[in-house]
Amino acid sequence: RKASITFDRAFAIGDTDPRLFGAFVEHLGRCVYGGIYEPGHPSADKRGFRKDVLDLVKELGPTIMRYPGGNFVSGYNWEDGVGPVKDRPARLDLAWFTTEPNSFGTNEFIDWCRAAKIDPMLAVNLGTRDGDAARNLVEYCNHPGGTAWSDLRIKHGWKKPHGVKFWCLGNEVDGPWQMEHKTATEYGRVAHEAAKMMRWIDPSIELAACGSSGRNMPTYGRWEDEVLEHTFDQVEFISLHTYFNNYAGDTKAFLASPDLMDQFIEEVVAISDAVAARRRSDKRIMLSFDEWNVWYRTRRVRADRVKEGWPVAPPILEEIYSMEDALVFGGACISLLNHADRVKTACLAQLVNVIAPIMTETGGPAWRQTIFWPFAQMSRLGRGTVLKAIVKSESYQASYFDPRGKQDLYYPIDAPYLKASVVSDDKGVSLFLLNRDLEGSLDVTVNARGFGKLKVAEATELRHKDLKAVNSKKEPLKVKPASLKGVSTKSDEITLELQPASWNVIRLE
Ligand code: AHR
Repeated sequence: RKASITFDRAFAIGDTDPRLFGAFVEHLGRCVYGGIYEPGHPSADKRGFRKDVLDLVKELGPTIMRYPGGNFVSGYNWEDGVGPVKDRPARLDLAWFTTEPNSFGTNEFIDWCRAAKIDPMLAVNLGTRDGDAARNLVEYCNHPGGTAWSDLRIKHGWKKPHGVKFWCLGNEVDGPWQMEHKTATEYGRVAHEAAKMMRWIDPSIELAACGSSGRNMPTYGRWEDEVLEHTFDQVEFISLHTYFNNYAGDTKAFLASPDLMDQFIEEVVAISDAVAARRRSDKRIMLSFDEWNVWYRTRRVRADRVKEGWPVAPPILEEIYSMEDALVFGGACISLLNHADRVKTACLAQLVNVIAPIMTETGGPAWRQTIFWPFAQMSRLGRGTVLKAIVKSESYQASYFDPRGKQDLYYPIDAPYLKASVVSDDKGVSLFLLNRDLEGSLDVTVNARGFGKLKVAEATELRHKDLKAVNSKKEPLKVKPASLKGVSTKSDEITLELQPASWNVIRLE
């Protein structure tokens, strides 16, 4: 098959915000305990931070890290996780049916972020708690001193304020699985009041209201509309969550599914702007795609999610990612990049062990899952201005299955075989290209207008003859990028051949 991409240096969608390349650490399974934090591990420093994990995190390149949940945050008392570790209470966590020992908490997380050179993003509990606990946490973290909460932080050993800039007002409050699930009216009111007080304490913070926990929620659309009616003046962001699945075993539909992320983003932009229009406001609410990934094998399987006996940090949601998953994941990276004008923050859910790009063995090594590669490349080469790319490609029809409660949904998708994003900077341009044709290669002609003569600085492909191939402790690099041969440049025209079912990244300078 043949395809073409045309773009012009002057025609921009928008600049990528550094926070587009975020990830997520939840108190869930072995994400914290046995993931980023494992005192006694051979690579752990004196604070218990695993250095092997830190090194992989640096290579992965997340810029901001959401914490402490997720579903967990809706029952979390942040006060349990600060102060002398020996005095911290163990609690039942009703999100994941485990025991939370609280030996890792907000201050340890901030230290870990500093060690990883990542900005923290904190979520407050608007499930079992309300604006009061939220404003106290902002005061504890960000107020310099001279008040009970800020002096407590100092007493706990953190003299300098943490200066946390980005705050999530709860998590997935629209979902009945959430502790203290709320209607849009109930949530909108509490989020409005919490936001007001949090910002009175620190006017420099940015706030995200909870949008729908999925595009397939029955309340989707009306939820965003009403929540923003309440919170429009108090927040900068509305959140979105998406997890892709291949329950149907239909690879073509699975590969098409990131196109639904494009629709989701565009719909939430439209709803947010409609709320603005009703107010005659020129304020634009930005999108925080603060949970996204492939997740299905370890989802909705009670035996996998919940281990009996309230264990501490059991191995749950340890999804093993295949080559096929990495392709879908790459497609999602392209969707995020192509909406850089409105999606300003996004968090890959999650970071270590739990639906994660990095896996560890407790007491043993750490390695990269297949999805590690597209994220690391997007974070390294996707900084700059996303250009409007005119992609001409044949397309195929798919029907993507998405189960939700009693309501199984099938989405028809007309998916172009080539999905692409183009990001330019002062030195050149990066192309992110997904060939979704499972059988055929794609001959692609690229017209890069306004760049003059470009040379190939880097060209890689990620593919494997077995779409179910995975990386593991035994074979940690079974799936990894290899050099993409045959990229040829002639003035502003570049020609290349993309292999079937491949994720490709080309850097031209
Ligand atoms: O990321 C795993 C879970 O997925 C999060 O805790 C929750 O917010 C979402 O449903």
